[in-house]
Amino acid sequence: MLKNFWYACEFSQALTNRSKQIVLWQQTIVLYRDSTGQVVALKDRCPHRGAALSLGKVEGDCLRCPYHGWKFQSDGTCNEIPANPPGVAIHPQAGVQSYPVEEKYGFIWLFWGDLPPDECPPIPSLPEFPDSSYRAVTVELEFQAHYSRLLENLFDPVHATFVHVNTFGGGDSNKQQFLTQGKLILRDWGASSIAIIQQAPLKAIYWQDIGKKKNSKVKLDSSFYLPNLVYQKIDFKSGLLFCIALVPIDDRTTKVKLMCFRNFLTHSWFDRWFRKLNLQILQEDKPVVESQRPYAVPNDINAELHVAGDALAIAYRQLLQKCLKME
Ligand code: FES
Ligand SMILES: [Fe+2]
Repeated sequence: MLKNFWYACEFSQALTNRSKQIVLWQQTIVLYRDSTGQVVALKDRCPHRGAALSLGKVEGDCLRCPYHGWKFQSDGTCNEIPANPPGVAIHPQAGVQSYPVEEKYGFIWLFWGDLPPDECPPIPSLPEFPDSSYRAVTVELEFQAHYSRLLENLFDPVHATFVHVNTFGGGDSNKQQFLTQGKLILRDWGASSIAIIQQAPLKAIYWQDIGKKKNSKVKLDSSFYLPNLVYQKIDFKSGLLFCIALVPIDDRTTKVKLMCFRNFLTHSWFDRWFRKLNLQILQEDKPVVESQRPYAVPNDINAELHVAGDALAIAYRQLLQKCLKME
């Protein structure tokens, strides 16, 4: 488990002033927006009798427990116990843990760790993040897989020919697949690489709509950012970008939260179609990724074999080991 990092954990748009439970590393956390729209994150467990605070009600900036009505401020301090007679002081341990939380790039980021966040790796800066001229759809899907396997899957440039035959995966899986791998760019907490891959838009009129001929080559600019984000730009005539959070529920369960941005076919009418396509692509990955053993990527870099297309995965594994050793 990578500690002392900001995890992208929920879509911004999914959060209102109603409480919502998320799970990160087996810990239930309640999120809500206060009266100013600011996001609040508290441990989703009432210190009184252990009820889930996420079942409670947001009142202004506070959250009231659904069981006996204890009220908690956004910093987790309990400021009201309805059953207490007037004048009775609230026990100092009546509070609940709060988490540092930020909003950026359409995601809610939660700091998971025990160090001050400003001494730790920041929320990544994403280059050329799409502006409002892009239209976004969001898709999520739960996998019975470790998030490290999913992270690698999402920037893996080679599997499309085999796994995504019915969506965007082109070429002929019986033939030699040539892959041009660009230079690897290493960052403090991530890495990027460009791959030129073959895409065959045989079934998806989508690719033809944006001016690509079948069996054309496509530039795929993929990045990962620790602990759990993949960012991908696809060089079509128009822009297509993906920003994907792999939210670790536990060691064997991951929620994929994907944002797909496009600056073509931007009418809302096409949203449904883009959602369906992205979900179908994730569902194509599901059986293969869920079959991988060991669940997490191995600690020993030599435990699995690597070829040219695995450059980014090698960078990921090396950086991951470095960070795990620092803990
Ligand atoms: S369990 Fe929350 S107030 Fe009693
Ligand atoms: Fe895939």
